[in-house]
Amino acid sequence: MRKILLAACFANPSGNTMKLTDAFMEGALAAGHEVRKVYLGNDIHGCRGCGACQVSDRGCVIHDVMDEVYPLYYWCDTIVIASPLFFWSVSGQTKSFLDRLYAVGRDDRYETREMALLMTAGDDHPDTFRHAENFFDAIAAVHGNRKLGTCFAGGCEGDPGHHEIKEEYLQKARSFAQSL
Ligand SMILES: Cc1cc2nc3c(=O)[nH]c(=O)nc-3n(C[C@H](O)[C@H](O)[C@H](O)COP(=O)(O)O)c2cc1C
Repeated sequence: MRKILLAACFANPSGNTMKLTDAFMEGALAAGHEVRKVYLGNDIHGCRGCGACQVSDRGCVIHDVMDEVYPLYYWCDTIVIASPLFFWSVSGQTKSFLDRLYAVGRDDRYETREMALLMTAGDDHPDTFRHAENFFDAIAAVHGNRKLGTCFAGGCEGDPGHHEIKEEYLQKARSFAQSL
């Protein structure tokens, strides 16, 4: 059974991406995996690039929601990132989360973690998530080249506050979690 760190990398607590995240969590728990979800919301700062984490054992100098994440990084064997697609890329929270994991490595070397990506988007074209997935592939390679897969939910259009993720994608997220 897996120990999953589920990073909810967005600031909308009731949007499409939270629904996809919760569907994944439901499937993972039903399959017997342990899951710790961390909602990054607006409480994550970007990496300052100060390098302090590389020269001391005190970790990152910034204290925010990542204080909750770092112990879970050492606990987990699997990292699942959930993000909306913003301008063909991952959310700012996702980027900051990944940048801040710099503090758990040395000289760009990291412990191995298996990784998966969940995303929602307004468009639903074959290449809607291509750029974001290419980026994720590079990140997964850095963390041990153990990409488990992706679960993409396109077609989440609608007015602000009006969420339209399709049930078929929620079911896909549950099944994806159960297949891990
Ligand atoms: C700033 C911003 C940029 C977006 N960029 C894209 C995009 O490039 N491609 C796309 O298909 N949808 C895009 N969308 C739509 C969102 O990805 C989509 O509505 C998503 O499901 C929103 O997630 P949420 O409900 O969890 O907030 C964008 C939305 C916002 C607010």
